[in-house]
Amino acid sequence: MPVTFAATAVLGLLLGAEPEKAPPDPRDFGPGTMDVSGYPEEHQRKYDLLISKCNKCHPAARAVNSHFSSQQWKRYMKKMLRRPNSGINEEQAQRIYEFLKFRAEKEGLG
Ligand code: HEC
Repeated sequence: MPVTFAATAVLGLLLGAEPEKAPPDPRDFGPGTMDVSGYPEEHQRKYDLLISKCNKCHPAARAVNSHFSSQQWKRYMKKMLRRPNSGINEEQAQRIYEFLKFRAEKEGLG
């Protein structure tokens, strides 16, 4: 029931417990992982961080199935970090961004 859901979300925010869940998106239902075995090891570790950190409010699949340029990723990363209780610190955000930038360049998106 929407009202109960909203009340729970607000309570959660007030208590600092759980971040607000993102409404479902088609990308959430695509593959939740990608094959990074051909990536340099440092980027494989950053990918692991993305999978473990970007799944709080929506499945990490939303990020895996989004294909943006480095500039766009920079903007989206800031947007995600501004949300309450993201559970992601600046250093982690930087590493995740470096992975997304590497992937964008590999995909020819710049
Ligand atoms: C605190 C909650 C939260 C966390 C943590 C979070 N997101 Fe999100 N994300 C959202 C919400 C809410 C939306 C939908 C609204 C929007 O686009 O801002 C969203 C949408 C997105 C979208 C779709 C943007 C678009 O408009 O096409 C991408 C891509 C995304 N997130 C990537 C990430 C990545 C990468 C991470 C990890 C660094 C992450 N998210 C972590 C809350 C979060």
